[in-house]
Amino acid sequence: MTRLIITGGEALSGEVRVSGAKNSALPILAATLLTEDKVTLNNVPHLNDITTMMELTGGLGTRFLIDEHMGIEVDASKIIGFKAPYDLVKTMRASVLVLGPLLARFGEAEVSLPGGCAIGSRPVDLHLRGIEALGAQVILEDGYIRARVNDRLKGADIRIEKVSVTGTENLMMAAVLAKGTTIIRNAAKEPEIIDLANFLNILGAEIKDAGTETIIIEGVDRLHGGNYSIMPDRIEAGTYLAAAACTRGKIKLKKAAPDTMTAILDKFEKTGAHINVDKDSIELDMRGKRPKAVDICTAPYPAFPTDMQAQFMAMNCIAEGTGTITETIFENRFMHVFEMQRMGANIEVKDNTAVCQGIDLLTGVPVMATDLRASASLVIAGLVAEGQTIVDRIYHIDRGYECIEEKLALLGAKIRREPY
Ligand code: UD1
Repeated sequence: MTRLIITGGEALSGEVRVSGAKNSALPILAATLLTEDKVTLNNVPHLNDITTMMELTGGLGTRFLIDEHMGIEVDASKIIGFKAPYDLVKTMRASVLVLGPLLARFGEAEVSLPGGCAIGSRPVDLHLRGIEALGAQVILEDGYIRARVNDRLKGADIRIEKVSVTGTENLMMAAVLAKGTTIIRNAAKEPEIIDLANFLNILGAEIKDAGTETIIIEGVDRLHGGNYSIMPDRIEAGTYLAAAACTRGKIKLKKAAPDTMTAILDKFEKTGAHINVDKDSIELDMRGKRPKAVDICTAPYPAFPTDMQAQFMAMNCIAEGTGTITETIFENRFMHVFEMQRMGANIEVKDNTAVCQGIDLLTGVPVMATDLRASASLVIAGLVAEGQTIVDRIYHIDRGYECIEEKLALLGAKIRREPY
């Protein structure tokens, strides 16, 4: 096991490069199962979740060639299995993303049911109803989703009841090889949906209006190979900006995608930070100021993302005034609050709302990471705490943040990883 040891109090300063987006690379890697031709992916982040997805598709027969910059050549010409086993699905729920591609290309898929999760129940019923609408027979047995279709999937007009990111992605991937037209209504509009559509269209898919709530897909007979570069990670970018704002620092993010971060950047401005944006860079300056507390309500894109809620909670802990955070996407996403309270934060949780009264200083204590974004928020809290914070169970952080301690150390943070 390893943990992060952080000595708080340093204002972050300098430049850091944003990595490729985890939530884009995962569906795109799953989508490579749709073609027998070679695909080259660039800007793939070096993360545990990416390794898990490669282990999963590799187990099905995909071959990978990786260069020193994490450019990955993917060859899914010789697929020998159609099963996503429990051992992998339990470590990463996004494994369910292989369901649509396997079914579309091979007419068969078996994916372990994901079960519970630290941030809420997270069912996959919407994925299943969608693929049934495309003509698949789905049965649940022995803890597995078993889906098959005799001939090809058939285009359909599908309304997804509740906005779901991976649900929309699974249906897009299933529909690209279906016979006829598919309309996905109430689709998720996240930038990662657009990235997946752009990738699939490069391979010959015909997807229109990704990024709006109605996506139209003309099914094609086959997809061919191609090259694609994964978009920048807007949540990683937001996390570093939050760390800089909390520590009253000034940083510049390179290779970012500010146009995908409007709701996040607007909130940073409300905290009093000075934000300067270029085409692919973002500068945040909070020198000499204490952040002001902000009110946040999470909702699907383009509203404020649930994946940035915990990091803003860390900021509200030490901000001037009182901030209210309402979580509307996941029912149990306040586990970080209890760790922050142990650091002295003044937060009260009632139902899905956390009211935080800012205090001058947090105190460094040992804390435990409970999920990916919660861990990031505890690192931020540690960077502004007095004394030493030890963040345990950081395997969560390694799922979604590439070289977090190196990047933060580059910005002047006192942080190190320690085995124990
Ligand atoms: C994706 C992101 C995750 C982010 C989340 C919300 C990836 C790999 N992960 O997760 O980082 O926090 O979007 O922006 O992209 N739901 C159902 N039935 C379903 C599917 C979802 O009830 O079949 C519910 C969920 O429990 C949740 C809501 O819909 O309450 C939204 O979840 P969803 O958008 O599906 O999240 P993920 O795609 O799993």
